[in-house]
Amino acid sequence: ANSTMQQQVNVYRASLLDFPAPTSNPSSDFRYIQDGLLVTRNSKIVDIGSYNNLISSYKSHTISDLRGKLIIPGLIDSHLHFPQTEMLASYGEQLLEWLNNYTFPTEAKFADDDYATKIASIFLHQLVSNGTTTGMVFSTVHKSAADALFNAASKLNMCLIAGKVCMDRHCPVELQDSPALAQQHSAELIESWHGKGRLAYALTPRFAPTSSEQQLAALGELAKQYPDVYIQTHLSENLNEIEWVRQLFPKHRSYLDVYDQYGLVRKGSVFGHCLHLQDEEWRRLKSAQATIAFCPSSNLFLGSGLFELEKARQHGINVSLASDVGAGTSFNMLRTMGDAYKVCQLKHNPLCPLEGLYMMTQGAACNLGLEHTIGNLNTGTDADFVVLDPAFNELSALRTQHLIEERTISAPQDVLFALSMLADERTIFQTYIAGNCVHQVNKELN
Ligand code: GUN
Ligand code: ZN
Repeated sequence: ANSTMQQQVNVYRASLLDFPAPTSNPSSDFRYIQDGLLVTRNSKIVDIGSYNNLISSYKSHTISDLRGKLIIPGLIDSHLHFPQTEMLASYGEQLLEWLNNYTFPTEAKFADDDYATKIASIFLHQLVSNGTTTGMVFSTVHKSAADALFNAASKLNMCLIAGKVCMDRHCPVELQDSPALAQQHSAELIESWHGKGRLAYALTPRFAPTSSEQQLAALGELAKQYPDVYIQTHLSENLNEIEWVRQLFPKHRSYLDVYDQYGLVRKGSVFGHCLHLQDEEWRRLKSAQATIAFCPSSNLFLGSGLFELEKARQHGINVSLASDVGAGTSFNMLRTMGDAYKVCQLKHNPLCPLEGLYMMTQGAACNLGLEHTIGNLNTGTDADFVVLDPAFNELSALRTQHLIEERTISAPQDVLFALSMLADERTIFQTYIAGNCVHQVNKELN
């Protein structure tokens, strides 16, 4: 299929699973159509329903027969680092040493525009081949690297949120901006990219230790000037980090209070990790309608701790799932959900697969105020969706065979759960962005 014709209608037959509305109870408020049709026109979803109900309307159309496969909304990864693609799975140490030994040297390479452009292309390919159609992405300190990423995403017509990292201390000098430069370059990037096509900007102070008070204040001014830009940073990930923040900001009541003081805590602010919060921080995240990015793979990899999802549920705080590549060890959000399940097991609060799916589709979209365009399969939304193959290899075929009857999936939760443990890139049969197939397993598409 391509989009050269003015009215390009495409009809897909598969099992369909999504959450059509915001809910605090994803395990009951899902929509499952075992033998369904999904219809797109140009970049939008225009119809969804059961094959039996809809087929008469689409008799004259060619139908893409995807029976036995599961269509879900395009996956949303709410916190990851594009320049860290190449250093994923680097051995040893916890957060602060890991930043110094691997992260900063790698991010310094992005002063070179050609290099940034090359990695941006690889990064976006990794996203789509893993079924991720939207990311909330940290770039490097270099303005040009953010431009390279936005340029590449706009060519794919992707809904991508990203920002230039701001840091003016406690990192190598070649990676430091200043309060004024951080403000100027962030503002220029907002003007260039925020709201352009499907792109959006996120103000991105790396984390409190690498920003001076002046820099946080400068970014707070921008946040006020641009009330609809997103904000992303890290919060309460590692015990040494937290102690460092306490020493650097002695006047502040808590780690979150540092960001709050400068107007950086609001709806659309996404805080990575949040592993060791004080009660008042939980309450403030709730009252501000801010979002926590739960990064299970990263938190295990860096030995940072176990996120208390149950506590977030009790406080009614927005939680989205995130890979946090390259401290996270996989781009695959299904695998990330598998890691989240294991973390929750250790906390004796199991995570059901539907809640996991919600946190990387509709729930994540709601947290970003984007549920009218992404995160579900509703008519009128952008046609970002993923076709999963439950039988992508010998083992998964064996594991899921009893869950598939007459070429339709009879137990979608069970299939999803098995895939959250077994998935790799072959699980993602196809990825669609704005109605276009941008990835098919074992096939080069342009
Ligand atoms: N805290 C500050 N920067 C980073 C980063 O790049 N990755 C992670 N996991 N935590 C951080
Ligand atoms: Zn991170």
